[in-house]
Amino acid sequence: MKFYNDVLGLIGNTPLVKINALAAQHKIKAQIFAKMENLNPGFSVKDRIGISMIEAAEKDGLLKPGGTIIEATSGNTGIGLALAAAVKGYKCIFVLTDKVSMEKSRYLKSLGADVVVVPAASKHGTPEHYVETAKRIAKETPNCFYPDQYNHPANPAVHYRTTGPELWNDTDGRITHFVSSIGTGGTISGTGRYLKEKNPNIKIIGADPYGSIFKTYKDSGQVPEATPYLVEGIGQSLPVGNADMKIIDEIINITDRESFDLARQLSRTEGIFCGGSTGTNFAAALKVAKKLDEDDLVVFIVCDTGEHYLTKFHSDEWMKEKLLLEPQKITAGLINETKHAGAPAKLIFVAPDEIVSSALAQMNENGVTQIPVIEGNTSVGSLRESRVLTKLLGDRELLNAKVSKVMDESFPVLDVDASFNDIKTKLQKSPAVLIEDFKRITGIITRSDVLDLQRN
Ligand SMILES: Cc1ncc(COP(=O)(O)O)c(C=O)c1O
Repeated sequence: MKFYNDVLGLIGNTPLVKINALAAQHKIKAQIFAKMENLNPGFSVKDRIGISMIEAAEKDGLLKPGGTIIEATSGNTGIGLALAAAVKGYKCIFVLTDKVSMEKSRYLKSLGADVVVVPAASKHGTPEHYVETAKRIAKETPNCFYPDQYNHPANPAVHYRTTGPELWNDTDGRITHFVSSIGTGGTISGTGRYLKEKNPNIKIIGADPYGSIFKTYKDSGQVPEATPYLVEGIGQSLPVGNADMKIIDEIINITDRESFDLARQLSRTEGIFCGGSTGTNFAAALKVAKKLDEDDLVVFIVCDTGEHYLTKFHSDEWMKEKLLLEPQKITAGLINETKHAGAPAKLIFVAPDEIVSSALAQMNENGVTQIPVIEGNTSVGSLRESRVLTKLLGDRELLNAKVSKVMDESFPVLDVDASFNDIKTKLQKSPAVLIEDFKRITGIITRSDVLDLQRN
């Protein structure tokens, strides 16, 4: 028989996958490989540290039968701990910030954990901060273990013992550059230390979101003020114990836009369905690899699965809301569906035989200065407030006339799949465009809707 004793036996020994089309597109001569940590049983690199911190605690007598594990986590460490806790019969309480995706939070609950969510905006050291909250809950809970992944030596140690040797062996010692983002720093410090011991010429590259402190801290020793960014699980606002800056040769800053764009491209072009921090790593790997030649071999970490982010950056609607969507994906239909905080817009229109005064009242009520005139499913004209008022100044009696008597020409009609560029071209001549889906007018896009999309 061939089987594993339990699910924890599936952790580690993840394969390398070569990046083909995207490397060619970027004219990379070096070989680039993805280390597929998304194939762990909890779908992230953090499964490795979950079991290793628990085993260390058992050995040190810090975790006893019936005990509770309490940790501050961006989700994945929680999943790794919860998997091991499920198998070993411990309880879990995790403190997450509200930046963490709903998918990860629900996943933790499915694994039997209790989840506490605190605001991501809370400052380090304040009682509301997620780390401080986890510490407080740990103080108040009997028979509990607080792993503290940011400082626990078993975190980098498991990467030194497993991730590092896997990379060395699977590349036959040919790896020249290792790229990893830095959350707790366990992955980069442990793996990096092992690889440097094998060959000090191997370059260890950190990938850090703009807004996190690691790059400035590494380059200058100063800790700058952190600013918000959207990629989850990586970067910090203060240095952390497990992020050993001496092991890291260089840190490269990456924008949210690059991270999400490249993570989405890895899915579409290479079939590697990954999270945002993998995009951060891949962006840094491409920047490094551009300067390398055929003999070089770059490995970056695929930190976790894209399934954790289906309602976040893998959704076009979310990307559009955050002003991050690639322009070619912004269609008329998408703008219309998402312009009212995610809720589909209801089209407001008047009929040609409606009375002008009631049409104006309807425009006023809805706060619009232009409105389509629709008969059946067809646009037959438009009312534009300023033009109607000019006509009324000449003849006040028109207030009692039918809309068809005062209306102007119809707004241009575009298909739901019309591109952002088509929409912008039409809006140069008309204050609004209508959207048609299967011969039905389903929405309207105005100049201000488009300006909203171009805020950044
Ligand atoms: C999605 C994701 N990527 C990357 C990391 C970084 O790994 P490490 O904590 O080993 O630096 C984490 C850590 O929580 C994570 O959740």
